[in-house]
Amino acid sequence: MTHQDHLDRFSLSGKTALVTGASRGLGWCIARAMAEAGATVLLNGRDPARLAELVSELAGEGLSSVAACFDVAVRDAADGWIAAQGRNVDILVNNAGLRHRKPLADTPPDAFSVMLDVNLTAAYGMARGLAPFMAAKGAGAIINVTSIAGPVARANDAAYTAAKGGLAALTRALAVELGRSGVRCNGIAPGYFATEANAPWVGDPGVTALLHSRVPLQRWGDPAEIAGAAVFLASPAASYVNGYVLTVDGGMTASF
Ligand SMILES: NC(=O)c1ccc[n+]([C@@H]2O[C@H](COP(=O)([O-])OP(=O)(O)OC[C@H]3O[C@@H](n4cnc5c(N)ncnc54)[C@H](OP(=O)(O)O)[C@@H]3O)[C@@H](O)[C@H]2O)c1
Repeated sequence: MTHQDHLDRFSLSGKTALVTGASRGLGWCIARAMAEAGATVLLNGRDPARLAELVSELAGEGLSSVAACFDVAVRDAADGWIAAQGRNVDILVNNAGLRHRKPLADTPPDAFSVMLDVNLTAAYGMARGLAPFMAAKGAGAIINVTSIAGPVARANDAAYTAAKGGLAALTRALAVELGRSGVRCNGIAPGYFATEANAPWVGDPGVTALLHSRVPLQRWGDPAEIAGAAVFLASPAASYVNGYVLTVDGGMTASF
């Protein structure tokens, strides 16, 4: 293969990618990167005005995108969108997430269920709805955005940790079940990224000290640094990568 042939293996040209939770943060960085890699991206979120702004921003750069406005945790809304648009999707990125750090005493079972609904059950529903369309084409890629909270845990975060640990397990289960149809399923486990959701802690002296001592790269991840992992896992360059959760955490969980 030539140098260009190798580069072409990372292209998403001709593919359509649905990215849930693409209105900001890591989802927006993943969606933008996939558009830059040649995909048409379907931007999911719950705010139609925000999605319209992003579609027009990408169009201004000659990149192709369409808004996909629905709440992933409302099953009827998600299933309605899948019935209308699902056949177009080659790549599904389950990125939409919700986190409320609270101790057990302040997390009754209904609050625990809400965290599972958004972080785990919604991803299951999206994959279950879209997998048959991918299988009919004999190809597809599902990427679940999990977390380092899952394989490891911090105090006062049980619901999120359980949901993300479940999402990593779901990633392996889907890889095993869908592999025979040509559909791959992998995950990305981010560490500490300086997204809007983490804005209150960026610059906080306690968090800065924690990252300095616990993360070998000694800093926050820039949200754009998630992009390479997502484009790789979605692309033909990862054609034999299936059932793997790629940790992108500056080395945090490799150290103790
Ligand atoms: N940032 C980190 O350091 C970090 C670390 C580990 C894992 N993660 C995971 O990475 C993912 C993205 O994190 P982030 O920091 O970028 O989060 P964020 O800034 O809070 O963005 C969350 C995104 O999800 C969307 N969303 C939330 N609930 C939704 C729903 N029910 N239906 C549709 N869209 C929904 C939001 O859109 P609207 O509000 O506009 O609908 C937004 O686009 C999450 O799964 C998170 O758990 C992040």
